[in-house]
Amino acid sequence: MSMPHIPVLLNEVLDTLVPRDGGVYVDGTFGNGGYSRAILEAANCTVWGIDRDPNVIAKSKHMETEFGGRLRVVEGRFGDMSKLLRAKGVSVVDGVALDLGVSSMQLDQAERGFSFMNDGPLDMRMEQNGPSAEDAVNDMDEEALANVIYEYGEERKSRWVAHAIVEARAEKRITRTKQLADIVCRVVKKSKDGIHPATRTFQGLRIYVNDELGEVNRGLAGAEQLLAPNGRLAVVSFHSLEDKRVKAFLNERSGNVPNPSRYLPDVEDKGPAPTFKLLKKGAVKPTKDECKINPRSRSSRLRMAVRTEAPAWGGERSAS
Ligand SMILES: C[S@@+](CC[C@H](N)C(=O)[O-])C[C@H]1O[C@@H](n2cnc3c(N)ncnc32)[C@H](O)[C@@H]1O
Repeated sequence: MSMPHIPVLLNEVLDTLVPRDGGVYVDGTFGNGGYSRAILEAANCTVWGIDRDPNVIAKSKHMETEFGGRLRVVEGRFGDMSKLLRAKGVSVVDGVALDLGVSSMQLDQAERGFSFMNDGPLDMRMEQNGPSAEDAVNDMDEEALANVIYEYGEERKSRWVAHAIVEARAEKRITRTKQLADIVCRVVKKSKDGIHPATRTFQGLRIYVNDELGEVNRGLAGAEQLLAPNGRLAVVSFHSLEDKRVKAFLNERSGNVPNPSRYLPDVEDKGPAPTFKLLKKGAVKPTKDECKINPRSRSSRLRMAVRTEAPAWGGERSAS
């Protein structure tokens, strides 16, 4: 049974966006509509929801009706938000919220194949098309597979895992989440913090299958293009690979890049004018109470910034 998704750091996201009457907001990761609902209830404004999962779009119809034209939900990727909204005649917005990753509904539905806790087909595609995790584990060569598991899953034993997968698939195609988890458990032992041995391998494959980090880069650049001066950006991430990208983007775009050496003179040409001003230097974490009510919020981090008047730098950040 799938649990409804509990919105994470919701009050903090609302405090960042400060929705106002007549404002236009983008909820780039609509999910169960928790952020959209809160924004729509906070002011007489309009929200454009985006989600790449067709199931989410189908479920959002009742909420569109409920808010009588103030909510529109579009199927697509937030990395394309600028293009998607321009196609609807919207070129400037007052706020963008991104709540990265997958929802509880996606995680809990065995048939979506995101979880090793409930056995299901090895799928993991948010969009439900394109190459799946099953294709990745059965078709990639051992080295490429190890790299995915190492870089996106941060699994130190990635080479062992990739080797075990290649040996297992020579016997029988790997098609189920439980089957893959069992293969990983042969070579990775439970860590002291109790994390299941397959957690990192599953994370790596999911990020790869959905190009999640590429989406973060493109989404941040899209928000920079769409936001009006004084427009607000709120990004919630769930693991360090995402958060590192958000932090690097906001530091770069706000001119918060340290001089490489204190022995070198300050560089005269600091590049284009900053497009963002940080609203807070570090990231906001959930309170103990929130973690108690919603354990899935534990690793979440919110970063926030306000758009300046400077023109967008354009292009997406390269991975760093
Ligand atoms: C963590 S949930 C968002 C939950 C939402 N804030 C709420 O309160 O219900 C993430 C959602 O974003 C969607 N998603 C993830 N990456 C996306 C992308 N690149 N473009 C569009 N939607 C994406 C997922 O399909 C999922 O429904």
